[in-house]
Amino acid sequence: MPTFPLMLSLLLLFLLSTEAAFGVGLGLGLGIGGGTTGGGGGGVWVGGGVNPSNSPPQQQEAPPQSQQQPPSPPSPSLSKSYTALQAWKSAITEDPNGVLTTWVGPNVCNYKGVFCSNGDNYNGDYSYNSPVFSSVSAIDLNHANLKGILVKELTLLTELSLLHLNSNRFSGTIPQNFKDFLYLTELDLSNNQFSGTFPNPTLYMPSLMYLDIRFNNFYGAIPDDLFTKQLDAIFINNNQFDGQLPQNLGNSPASVINLSNNKFSGGIPASLGFVNSAIKEILFLNNQLSGCIPENLGLFSDITVLDLSFNSLMGHLPDSLSCLEDIQVLNLAHNKLSGELPDLVCSLKNLLNLSIEYNFFSGYSQKCTNLFMRSIGFDISLNCIPGKGMQRPPPECYGIPGTDSDSCFRIPSGKPLVCGSLLDLILGNIPLSP
Ligand SMILES: *[C@@H]1O[C@H](CO)[C@@H](O)[C@H](O)[C@H]1NC(C)=O
Ligand SMILES: *[C@@H]1O[C@H](CO)[C@@H](O)[C@H](O)[C@H]1NC(C)=O
Repeated sequence: MPTFPLMLSLLLLFLLSTEAAFGVGLGLGLGIGGGTTGGGGGGVWVGGGVNPSNSPPQQQEAPPQSQQQPPSPPSPSLSKSYTALQAWKSAITEDPNGVLTTWVGPNVCNYKGVFCSNGDNYNGDYSYNSPVFSSVSAIDLNHANLKGILVKELTLLTELSLLHLNSNRFSGTIPQNFKDFLYLTELDLSNNQFSGTFPNPTLYMPSLMYLDIRFNNFYGAIPDDLFTKQLDAIFINNNQFDGQLPQNLGNSPASVINLSNNKFSGGIPASLGFVNSAIKEILFLNNQLSGCIPENLGLFSDITVLDLSFNSLMGHLPDSLSCLEDIQVLNLAHNKLSGELPDLVCSLKNLLNLSIEYNFFSGYSQKCTNLFMRSIGFDISLNCIPGKGMQRPPPECYGIPGTDSDSCFRIPSGKPLVCGSLLDLILGNIPLSP
């Protein structure tokens, strides 16, 4: 992990404050750790807390300990940057806002969208043994509406730590040598026209924390390594990815994983139920996932948002959902789930929204009735619940999908097991009581 000089941290804070809120619904903010400790890597904080977007930009004030430097000739790093940025400029064919008209001359630090940092207070790490050097540390061309491609020369920007290109018209693939970006912590290529299979160079960027490639045309399977990598946030939603989800999905150290609006098929990986997961928000919305919700899902997790909606999941809900103590949004709508919606789920104390519409549920228990009164989003329409309005026409409820098979194995017990006893059972602490 590289450390950041204070100047850079403040710059990042400013950049991020202009577009920090990338989450929907729960005040998800993205921030870079404060500058004073120097250990700041990228971080995604979910669900409240201090959101950098609410604090005023702090870049006006010069950091107290930095001395005014006399103007110095461009460092070797900057002349390489010139080569890189000019090569890229000539691969950009449309620039309707005239952003690149500022990209002339050797002083790349004055180019619009290009941000430099002065490396002279490189946090005491003199293993660099470097003289005063200035280098391009960030590129932020969000919403520039540029059309073009990425070029391999960009890796001449060896100190780059942020590349934000969201909402442009870049196409083609990610150059293979992008793996050489040793200090890139944030890559945002969202809302472009990139295509090809999963951009593997991202897996080799040793400092990457935030990967956002949503709203592009990437296709094919996603690699297992995506979920072993030390990422904080994985946004790959709204692409054409397909195939089965890697079995190690639940092992990911990321706090947010958005897989929505792709074409993934097969089941939800069982790992989501077995490991002590770091995942806080995980969205599978609108894929082609089938099978059962994995037994044990929720057991060891701090998930706050779980969106399984618009898939083809079947069977009864696992009792382990009762362990989702922090869950706020549980979206199960538009699947083929059945059985009774248990107390265990309805009494989850942090629930803000429980969507079960468009399934085959045959009823809900007493505690669920309270949800109507707690003004919690609780939509039960288009199920098979007798005596309730807005249900499926009865013939649809005769052949409930998945009930003739034993594919959704459940721990046998007379009544649902609350979270604690389920844990004991699984950890072998006590025998199953009758
Ligand atoms: C995930 O992607 C879906 C589909 O674009 C979007 O509706 C949802 O808000 C996203 N959630 C997060 C946390 O990114
Ligand atoms: C609950 O979630 C559903 C589906 O995401 C949404 O349509 C609805 O507006 C939400 N309701 C509340 C009260 O938040």
